[in-house]
Formats: sequence, structure tokens, C-alpha cells
Amino acid sequence: MFTVKTIEWKDDKVIMLDQRLLPEEEVYNTYDDYLSVAKAIENMTIRGAPAIGVAAAMGVALGALGISSKTFEDFYKKIEAVCERLAKTRPTAVNLFWALDRMKKVTLENKNLPIPKLQQRLKEEAIKIYHEDIEANRMMGRNGAKLLKDGMTVLTHCNAGALCAAGFGTALGVIYTAGEEGKRIHVVVDETRPVLQGSRLTAWELQKHGIEVTLICDNMAGTLMQQKKVDCVIVGADRIAANGDVVNKIGTYPLAVLAKHHNIPFYVAAPLSTIDINVVNAIEIPIEERNPKEVTHIKDQAIAPSHIKVFNPAFDRTPNALVSTIITEKGLAQSPFENTLKSWKTV
Ligand code: MRU
Repeated sequence: MFTVKTIEWKDDKVIMLDQRLLPEEEVYNTYDDYLSVAKAIENMTIRGAPAIGVAAAMGVALGALGISSKTFEDFYKKIEAVCERLAKTRPTAVNLFWALDRMKKVTLENKNLPIPKLQQRLKEEAIKIYHEDIEANRMMGRNGAKLLKDGMTVLTHCNAGALCAAGFGTALGVIYTAGEEGKRIHVVVDETRPVLQGSRLTAWELQKHGIEVTLICDNMAGTLMQQKKVDCVIVGADRIAANGDVVNKIGTYPLAVLAKHHNIPFYVAAPLSTIDINVVNAIEIPIEERNPKEVTHIKDQAIAPSHIKVFNPAFDRTPNALVSTIITEKGLAQSPFENTLKSWKTV
């Protein structure tokens, strides 16, 4: 089976596929300091909630390797500064903050180790987060594939595939698993303006996996649903609140409304690292606003008059009432989501 390497730790360096260049070019960049990893998250060389969590953890490990403190106190102060920089990269996907918290916790738990051993320990933890993410995606795939039948057409939005994670994928992981089980699944992909993760990344990834794929513009989904050509919608998530509200790529909410209107199941696939039980509902989740140029231009080509006023939120909020099932590595959660999500997060 085709596998894409999104991110990797190799010889004390981080290697990332430059997702800005896909699908035309497959270029891998090498990073040996945390500041350049932070830039790569910011400029979306790497993107997707689980992937930026892994990148942040590896960034902390690189940062740790670059610290030459003699005392734990000084070392920890510097680790905190590294985490602070990485935390400023993107505000919405909680996996980033989850990974940074975990790296800080491991640092504190190992304060008695000599500094070189502590640096190794942080490197091991980042690699562990990477492997756990792939394993979670595999389990999510097995759980979610139960919802798919042979011959179904699934609509997806943005990229929740191998490219959004350490590997395999969240929403697309469900589709890949169904495929491995011998089910033929046809996937309809929204192009996902303004950054085009659907057409550039998801269509590319699905095609490489040999999955039947049809690309549409974002405003065509309603017509397909009206014509009864979509059996279900599966998307990923950047952060899920304790009550099951979902924050995901801009354009997810209108799809959920459309799905409800047409009586089509709306599934969300995400690892537990994407669930934030500290936020009661999606209103509390910050929504990143990005550069207006993403809207006024495609690549460097202007598609709007200069100096036009632009609104460019990168994510939107889908209320839990529009979500049929949340697919995680632990199982399938149905409304009311709160108790199930809380019990999974506290185990
Ligand atoms: O802005 P991005 O590309 O980092 O957005 C994240 C996403 O890819 C999507 O919102 C995705 O559906 C969730 S990430 C598994």
C-alpha cells in the first residue's frame, strides 16, 4: 500500500514533507532547530492537527538538544521558552498544546536525570508521540470502517489523511481501512478554499492510494446531496469541545447543516489528543484568522481587486447537534457526547 511520510525524526533532525508544494512537487525539508520548526508550522509546510502536535513535540526535542545548561532549573526555563515559541504558531488545533504540555510534564518528571539523559528522554518522548499517533489512526480506522458499506460514496473536506498526521490519517484512515477490508468506497473531495487542502492534498493522497475520487468546488456539495449522491460525510477535527462541538476547517459547518437537511450521517474522526475537555463548548475555542492573501490570491496570482476587505477565518464551529458520531481510537461516541468523551480522556 502507498504510504506518505509526513514527518520523521532522523539522525537528530526533523524531516518534513513540504505540503505547500503538493501536488506538483514532493520536497522534503530538514530541520535542526526548533525556531525553523515553529516557522514550518506557521507557514503550513506541515499542517493538520495531529501532525502539528507531532512537529511541536519534535521541535521541543530539537530545542532540548540545543540547550547547554548545567542545572535542571536553567534547563527547564529554556524548555519553557522553546514551548512558548512553539505555542505561538497556530492557536486552534489543541494537539499542539497537548504535545507541548506532555513534553513539559516529561521534563519535570525526569528532573533528577543528568541533562544529556534528559535530552535523550525528550527525544524518545517525541518519537513515542509520533508512533502513538499512527497507532491511534489505525485503531480509529478500524472503529470507523464499521460505519461504511461496500459501494458507498463519502464526502470529505480539507485534508484529514496521512498528511494531517504522523501517518495513515484520521477521516481518510477510516476510508483506507474500509478499502483494506475489501469495501469499494468512492470519495467526493471538496477543494477547500482558500488553501485548497482538498484538491492539492486529499485528492493527491487518495489517488495515490488507488481510491476512486471525484473533486468538487466547495459550493457543489449541496447539489450532490440533493441528487442523493452522497451516503455520508466524514471529516477530521482540529479541536473537539467537552460537549462534542467540533472545530474544523472553514466550510465544515455548512456541510454539517446540509447533511442534516438531507438526512445524511455526519461523522467526525479524531484522536483523543484532539479532544479538549477543558473547553465546555466550541465558542471557547479560538479561531485562527490568516493572511488575506490566501483569499485574494491563488499561489501568486491575484483573483480579486487589490485593497479589498477580506475575512479569512481558517476554521469554523459545528454544534454537536449536527454530529452523528465521533470516531476515536477508543470507539464510536454518539450524542450526548459529554460523558463518553470525558471517560475516554480520563482513563
Ligand atoms: O489549516 P490546516 O490545514 O492545518 O487545518 C487542519 C485540517 O487539515 C483540517 O481542519 C482537518 O480537517 C483536521 S486535521 C485532522
